[in-house]
Amino acid sequence: MDQPLGGGATAVARAHSNIALVKYWGKRDAALNTPAVGSISVTLAALYTDTRVTFRPDLSGDEFWLDGSRTDATRVSRVLDLVRRRAATDRYAVVSSTNNFPTGAGLASSASGFAALAVAAAGASGLTLADRELSILARHGSGSAARSIFGGFAEMHAGVAADGSDSYAEQLLEPADWPLSVAVAITERGEKSINSTIGMVESAATSPYYQAWQDSAADDLAEMRAAIAARDFARLGELSEYNCLKLHALMLSTRPALIYWNAATVAAMHAVRGLRADGVPAYFTIDAGPQVKVLCLPADSAAVRGALALVPGVHEVRMSALGPGAHRLE
Ligand code: DP6
Repeated sequence: MDQPLGGGATAVARAHSNIALVKYWGKRDAALNTPAVGSISVTLAALYTDTRVTFRPDLSGDEFWLDGSRTDATRVSRVLDLVRRRAATDRYAVVSSTNNFPTGAGLASSASGFAALAVAAAGASGLTLADRELSILARHGSGSAARSIFGGFAEMHAGVAADGSDSYAEQLLEPADWPLSVAVAITERGEKSINSTIGMVESAATSPYYQAWQDSAADDLAEMRAAIAARDFARLGELSEYNCLKLHALMLSTRPALIYWNAATVAAMHAVRGLRADGVPAYFTIDAGPQVKVLCLPADSAAVRGALALVPGVHEVRMSALGPGAHRLE
């Protein structure tokens, strides 16, 4: 089988990374990559991945280039296999991705990367997919990527269907509906030690807190939805910190422990609490890495950036507005 492809064999897409305010950790079905819990995130304008996908008749396997280096294509092929099946082609692809931020350091490169891959691969194969289908496709690469299909605020549904068909993200608000700022304090530029995929499997297998984490997810999601609907920043921020620290308590109680923080991570958390004590509403969240993301109102961006820049061990502070959903670049 080598059928002609409808919409031209190349497409380029950009997708922005996202930061979860209510976090995903744990899988319902590893093969389908469905999450055990739902999640809610904001998409970031300043951090993104550009991905070009070209299906070619002369390849004997998929090729994946990340920031100019040839990289293992296993996960990329998982997404491309689904696209090939739908588009009824057996052509392999060359995938070339560039991040405008450090890869693999807890800045959600897999979220932006697999969302960009889903949109570019669908485009290159001539498929026209609805956002929900793109979200499901992106999920097969990385659970958090399902949310980066959408701009602004997005919610990922864990779903209950055995085939994963109800496990996708949806948009809650456009970026302009509630403009917030996010400061990203970079405390380490290198690759993180344990990736999320492995870490969450270890937490599910070993932590005595894993059941409680799953059981309390629905309450956090409901409260976050209400905070977003009411544009209640203090409630959104307090709940984001609570959910983040609950996740890190789960990580710390995993055997062997998942310690993603360094000294600067902890110092930045205290700096954010110090800002609040001085009357600046700012709230932190941290993923499976040492970087600290701080939510604030656009009017307080300069104060938050200034305070984080003074924290010993913070190399750089990147400011971001909320960003758009994944889109084609041509
Ligand atoms: C802590 O989406 O990277 O960032 O589905 O295995 O690729 P896989 O995991 P991934 O996990 C993200 C974990 C998190 C929280 C979040 O983004 O919700």
